[in-house]
Amino acid sequence: MRLGAPRPQAIVVFGASGDLTRRKILPALYNLAAEGLLPEKHVIVGYAFADWDDDAFRERARAAVEEFSRTGIDEEVWKPFADSLSFVPGKFEDEDGLRRLGERLVRADAESGTEGGRLYYLATPPSTFPVIVKGLGTMGAGRSDRTRIVIEKPFGHDLASARELNAIVHGVFEETQVFRIDHYLGKETVQNLMVFRFGNSLWERVWNRDAIDHVQFTVAESIGVEGRGGYYEEAGALRDLVQNHMLQVLGFLTMEAPGSLDPEAIRDEKLKVLRAIHPLKPSDVVRGQYSASPAGPGYREEPNVSPDSTTETFAAVKLHIDNWRWSGVPFYLRHGKRMPERSSEVSVVFRQAPSYLFAEEGIETLPPDHLTIRIQPDEGIALSFQAKQPGPGISLQEVEMDFGYGQSFKTKPAEAYERLIHDAMEGDHTLFTREDGVERSWEIVAEALAYPGPVHTYPAGGWGPHEADDLIAPRHWHLGAHW
Ligand code: BG6
Repeated sequence: MRLGAPRPQAIVVFGASGDLTRRKILPALYNLAAEGLLPEKHVIVGYAFADWDDDAFRERARAAVEEFSRTGIDEEVWKPFADSLSFVPGKFEDEDGLRRLGERLVRADAESGTEGGRLYYLATPPSTFPVIVKGLGTMGAGRSDRTRIVIEKPFGHDLASARELNAIVHGVFEETQVFRIDHYLGKETVQNLMVFRFGNSLWERVWNRDAIDHVQFTVAESIGVEGRGGYYEEAGALRDLVQNHMLQVLGFLTMEAPGSLDPEAIRDEKLKVLRAIHPLKPSDVVRGQYSASPAGPGYREEPNVSPDSTTETFAAVKLHIDNWRWSGVPFYLRHGKRMPERSSEVSVVFRQAPSYLFAEEGIETLPPDHLTIRIQPDEGIALSFQAKQPGPGISLQEVEMDFGYGQSFKTKPAEAYERLIHDAMEGDHTLFTREDGVERSWEIVAEALAYPGPVHTYPAGGWGPHEADDLIAPRHWHLGAHW
C-alpha cells in the first residue's frame, strides 16, 4: 500500500443519518484522520433526509466515533476533523437538495482547497442507488475525472438486476470511477492471502490438486439479523454473504499469480478463477434457518420477518473449480447466523500421508495436515501436523505452528472500512469488485437462487442443519467439530 495522504477532495456521504455511516464510515474516517491518511485538504459532507445542521451532524459523528471507533477520541485530532464535517439535508430524489449539495461542494473548492476532487459514497439502501446515480448524473458529476463513486453492497439482487444497475451506473460514470465495496476485501487477513501465497516459496508448491484434498471455508456469526429482518427476508444467507464476501475470498485463495500488483492484473486473475467455478445447482446447496432454542428466539420470531418465512439464515455450498490447478478438489463454503461463535476461517486440508509405516503401532490412518487461515477474530494462520509424542515407542499427536497478528505485529488489524475508503480516495481498485466480477458472482449462484431447495431448521446457537454435514461427508466441518 502506498501509505500517504490522498489528493485534495470532498467526501460526500449519502445516507449520512444511517446506521452504516454511524457504525463504520464515520469511525473509519476519524481513524484515517488520526493516522494522517485523509487528504490534507478535504471536507466531509453528509447528505440525508434529516432535520440537522452542521453542528447536529458533528454531535452525532462524535457519538458515533465514541461508540464505534477502534481508538478513543483524541481532542487534537477531533477538533480539525469536526471542523471538516458539514451537512446538507435533502432527499435522494430531491433536485433542490442536490443543487444545494453542489453549491456546498463548489464552496469547498474555494474555501477548503478541495480542487474539484469528489468521492461520493452511497451508504444507502440498494433501492436508492439508481436514483442517486441519476441525480449525480444531472449534476454532471461523472464528467470530471476527479470524481469517484463508492457503491455499497448488495450490488443487485440477482444477475439481471446487477446488470441493470451496472448499465445505470455506466450511464453516468466510467468503470474507472466506480468502486463497488465488498468490505471483506478490506480485512487485513484477506489481503494477506496474496502475500502469503505469492511472497513465500513454500505454499505455491502445494497449492494445487496434487497436494490438497479439499478446502473448507466457514463464516459463522453468533448474531442473528439484528433488526434487519426487512432486508434479510429479501436477501438470505446466499445473497447476503456467500455470493459476495465468500466468493471474493475464494478468488484470492485460488487465483493464479498475477503478472504484477496492478489492480487490473489482480482483478483479471480473480475473474478467471470465478469463471472456472461451476455454477451451483440447487443440489449443491444446503439451506438452513435457525429456530427457537434455549439460546434465543427463532428467525421467524424476529421483527419484520414473516411467520412462515423460508428465507435461509444458513447456507452450505459445495463447489468445483474446473482448471488445471483445482480440478477434482471440492470446496465447501458454509455461512450462518446464530451459530455458536463468531468465527471466519479457511481450512486447507492436505492429502493424507500413507500410514503403512505406523501400522504396527496400531495407527490405521493419519489425520491430514491442514492449514487454518483465521480471517477473524483472533486473526492468524496455523499449520497443524503430526508429531511424535515424547517417550518410548511411537505415538502421534497433532500439533500446531501458529502465527497470530497480535503476537507478531503487536497490533490489531485496522478496520476494513479504513483501508477501503483510503484506497477509493487514492483511486486504487485492487480491493473493489469490477463490473464483470460482480456479474460472474451472480451467475454462479443464479440457478440455486432461482430454484431454492428446502430450508432445514437448526437450533439458534447451533452449527447448522445436519444436512450440511451430509454435504461434506465423508469429510467433516472443521469448526464446531473435533478432528
Ligand atoms: C455484511 C452482511 O455484508 O457483512 C451482514 O450484510 C454480516 O449480514 C456482515 O453480518 C459481516 O461482516 P463482518 O465484518 O462483521 O464479518
